[in-house]
Amino acid sequence: MILIFFLIYKKGNWDKSEGFDFINDFNRNWLTKVREKLKDKGTIWISGTYHNIFSIGQILQELDFKILNVITWEKNNPPPNFSCRFFTHSAELIIWARKKEKVPHYYNYELMKKLNGNKQMKDVWKLPAIAGWEKSCGKHPTQKPLAVLTRIILASTQPNAWILDPFAGSSTTGIAANLANRRYLGIDMETEFLEISKARKLEIENPEIAETYCKKINGFEDKKQFQTYLQVEPKPKEKVVLGYTRSKDLATLTKMNTFYFHSTDKQNNFLEFPYDLHNAKKLVIYSGGRTKAFYLTSFCGDIASIAHKHKSKIEGKENSKTDYYFEIKLKDNFKEESTINVKSNLKKWMKEYSEEYNLKSVDYLPVVTFLENIFLKE
Ligand SMILES: C[S@@+](CC[C@H](N)C(=O)[O-])C[C@H]1O[C@@H](n2cnc3c(N)ncnc32)[C@H](O)[C@@H]1O
Repeated sequence: MILIFFLIYKKGNWDKSEGFDFINDFNRNWLTKVREKLKDKGTIWISGTYHNIFSIGQILQELDFKILNVITWEKNNPPPNFSCRFFTHSAELIIWARKKEKVPHYYNYELMKKLNGNKQMKDVWKLPAIAGWEKSCGKHPTQKPLAVLTRIILASTQPNAWILDPFAGSSTTGIAANLANRRYLGIDMETEFLEISKARKLEIENPEIAETYCKKINGFEDKKQFQTYLQVEPKPKEKVVLGYTRSKDLATLTKMNTFYFHSTDKQNNFLEFPYDLHNAKKLVIYSGGRTKAFYLTSFCGDIASIAHKHKSKIEGKENSKTDYYFEIKLKDNFKEESTINVKSNLKKWMKEYSEEYNLKSVDYLPVVTFLENIFLKE
């Protein structure tokens, strides 16, 4: 599942008001783009002030999203109103919507109920504003607290889910996502904020810091509850399938259970993982960054974990030109599964492949993809 998360506020230079038409056009434009990227069962969260949130609500409905909730985040500790001419601003609105009217979304009802003293979680969340320790890597003018993002992520995604925040800021979404074992892609137009994001990501690569932060995040019954929950959180059953590779490599690869895959191409563009099958024919998949097609084998493995790692943390890759890799760990080695309806005659495939692409010698590289994708394609 992909969850797209998004925030717009009014305090930074990036959000100078230019009239209703401008705001509506801007919102229609980005919402149309992210809708294309969102999986059919995915959901989107958008937070904003009254300057923008009503436009967002209107455009969401115009684009056929289905609004599920409008959350009111009530801050326990809002700053005072010095003018004393109207009420103290103490709340922010967050819209939660799904992509399709008829495709069900994921909601972790049981956990939300548990976090609310065993009563159904309401759409008013009382959580404190950002704490000082959350700004250890620099200041962003509208940085959100990890408590809000963590609740959003746990409520609406499963482990390993992809989460996109196209207005990332200091990447609070990403830090909450990674602490909760989800994957994250953030975009921002300000280099300064991307630098804070990077520093925050590097910071939580230290397991001790990650653990301390997990204990400090508000919204749980006690300091251990977040981590204890992560240990028992049910994971979607995911299998990977090994792709086209040289016969001699196949013997070695099927005995391994940890694999590394580039997460950026030579231009440093982030690659989607698993490699996209949308344009696939005959169960052919395209290896990231390369344009050549690869067939699949019938070797499958159950995924234990997927992590995003810096080269310095991977033995043997320290001097690589690529900075980041996906690390996939399988529960066991790859096993051949006769139920998988793909060709398994490697030699024949290679011959076909070489002929199809008019290649004399081909360097066959291992690729993996989620089994779910293959059957979706079929
Ligand atoms: C409200 S802030 C996000 C704060 C973030 N949630 C956090 O906790 O740090 C919105 C961000 O969107 C970025 N932004 C605004 N317009 C943008 C655009 N058109 N493209 C990319 N980023 C944009 C701003 O630079 C700003 O950092």
